[in-house]
Amino acid sequence: MSTMTLKDVGYTYKSKYQTVNALAGVSYEFRPGYFYAIVGRSGSGKTTMLSLMAGLDIPTSGSVAFGEKSTKNINRDKFRLEHVSVIYQSLNLFPLLTAIENVMFPLEYCGMSRSKAKKIAVEKLESVGIDKPKHRRLPSMLSGGEQQRVAIARALAAKSEVILADEPTGNLDSENSLNIVQLLKELAVSENVCVIVVTHDPAVAERADVVIKLSDGLIVEGPAVNERDLAEERNIEIVNYQSNIDSKKTEWNLNRKEMKTQHELTPGNANKHTSRAKNMKMLIDQNKKRAKQTSLE
Ligand SMILES: Nc1ncnc2c1ncn2[C@@H]1O[C@H](COP(=O)(O)OP(=O)(O)OP(=O)(O)O)[C@@H](O)[C@H]1O
Ligand SMILES: [Mg+2]
Repeated sequence: MSTMTLKDVGYTYKSKYQTVNALAGVSYEFRPGYFYAIVGRSGSGKTTMLSLMAGLDIPTSGSVAFGEKSTKNINRDKFRLEHVSVIYQSLNLFPLLTAIENVMFPLEYCGMSRSKAKKIAVEKLESVGIDKPKHRRLPSMLSGGEQQRVAIARALAAKSEVILADEPTGNLDSENSLNIVQLLKELAVSENVCVIVVTHDPAVAERADVVIKLSDGLIVEGPAVNERDLAEERNIEIVNYQSNIDSKKTEWNLNRKEMKTQHELTPGNANKHTSRAKNMKMLIDQNKKRAKQTSLE
């Protein structure tokens, strides 16, 4: 199992009108088997950091490495399919696939048989509390919290070495939220997965093995270790970090990178991989046509 190492990671969003230093030199080594919480105010760089770890983009300076390899030098599409699962801040379930098809999709995309994918999908959906009658519903026929749990089931099903989640419990009531956290925590320990969760919820952070606080694109506090015994046993370092940079805050809300992934995982790109995906593409095209006709009627 590989670690995810950030070395002096800087990231700048540049547009015609402005430059935003979203990350300004973040260094940290994330290890397998831990449940990490990343906290910090809105705009502090949490999503940007997760996007770089997901290989959606490369740092402007410094490096993000998975094991020995920098994300600069690997096939990042393949990396995402094989090693990392991402649960996004705005859920990106495929709107025209049912709940169960959403969970099955990445499995079949990687070549798993339909029956095996279905078995795993049912198991994972049930583990997040989505019961059978809801498996065949489209996301639009599920509540926000249920959609969020389908997205989590999809990440669990993929059996990745790293799970990155941006506010995965944002739409959930406290009971469901704690169940999900418990599930992710158990997964970290039992499967030796590295789980990294961005959260604004203190109840979620409280349950993490390690809490890392970002401010203005830097780690300013932490890692605070919640379970000290466990941490000592696993040899976690407590590091002091320098703080503060001159960061310009903007109100950009557009998550360019999320859109990019959605595009990459669009079944349109998948038809070269499996015939099932081809069928899904047809299904989606038909659905689109139908939706267009309905809106014209
Ligand atoms: N596509 C973009 N173009 C320009 N600036 C951006 C873009 N995305 C984010 N930013 C800016 O980069 C900084 C870090 O944003 P980021 O989305 O990483 O914050 P965050 O900690 O995830 O915030 P939140 O808790 O609100 O989700 C912010 O100042 C933000 O305005
Ligand atoms: Mg964010």
